[in-house]
Amino acid sequence: MKPVVTVTNLFPEKALEKLNPYCDLRTNQTENSPSASALAKIASESFVMITYLSDKIDSTIIDKASNLKLIANYGAGFNNIDVGYAARKRIWVTNTPNVLHETTADLTWSMILGVARNIVPADRFTRENQFKGWSADMYLGGDVYGKTLGVIGCGEIGAAVARRAAGFNMKVLYFNRNRISAEKEKELNAEFVGLKELLEQSDFVTVHVPLTDQTNFMIGRDQLSIMKPTAYFIHTARGKVVDDQALVEVLKEKRIAGAALDVYENEPVLTEGMTELQNLMLLPHIGSASYTTRNKMADLVVDNVLDVLQGNPPRCIVPSWVK
Ligand code: 8YV
Repeated sequence: MKPVVTVTNLFPEKALEKLNPYCDLRTNQTENSPSASALAKIASESFVMITYLSDKIDSTIIDKASNLKLIANYGAGFNNIDVGYAARKRIWVTNTPNVLHETTADLTWSMILGVARNIVPADRFTRENQFKGWSADMYLGGDVYGKTLGVIGCGEIGAAVARRAAGFNMKVLYFNRNRISAEKEKELNAEFVGLKELLEQSDFVTVHVPLTDQTNFMIGRDQLSIMKPTAYFIHTARGKVVDDQALVEVLKEKRIAGAALDVYENEPVLTEGMTELQNLMLLPHIGSASYTTRNKMADLVVDNVLDVLQGNPPRCIVPSWVK
């Protein structure tokens, strides 16, 4: 009998073909994430599970797994999985590092530019046939060129965002758990500062930390309130890093100029008041959503699965001490 490999959501067909000869492949080519009870059943029947950020793999699910060897997450983030508990049960967890940072950085920049220059409201206005003639006060926004960019979390995505700032002649500040190397700081032309200093001085604050116990609600009303009234807040990391209710209030009170979100505290549910705010850009978690990158992510997932099917440790193990 071939080992069972179950994919819980849409997965590129081409990548699936590579797995097919080696396993009993069970797929779900729909956009519907399995319920908790369906996930438990999958865990109990599979040797490998290919999972997504929408699949909460907690201790209850892991306890159902009797033959599970690998949880291969389709994404760089892995906060949806209890990695420590999986390790205790001798189940590997893998992610997809080094393949999606540039694409996510591209999206971040489209949000920086988009929110500063009112691209979404201006498009809506134009397509609704409201553009009846040029006016000097139409959709005035903020400048990006020459301003200060504050990067919270300078891992591979944060660094890719910072690197692009050179083209806009921006000053770059960053805050990170650990200071990055002097060489990297030089390459990014980025200055290490405290979180408070970053929030006070930046014209654009962009968040790129993983969701951990330390970063949960790292940005709340106190942090948002010390930003400049002309500054913009951008978030493409994980929803629960930011107190969305506080963000809505701060935007309503116009204490900052605007914000752009790709992730939400209670994803996919939006916090009340968000959709009425004109100075808030809302995207449906599409940071890595380019054809090339999604295929690269799928290939890396498949490589990890094949490693395990061939009796080897997978190449992208998430260390169990990450919390
Ligand atoms: C993925 C992401 O699309 O990689 C991540 O952490 O947030 C996204 O790029 C997502 O994880 C899919 O499960």
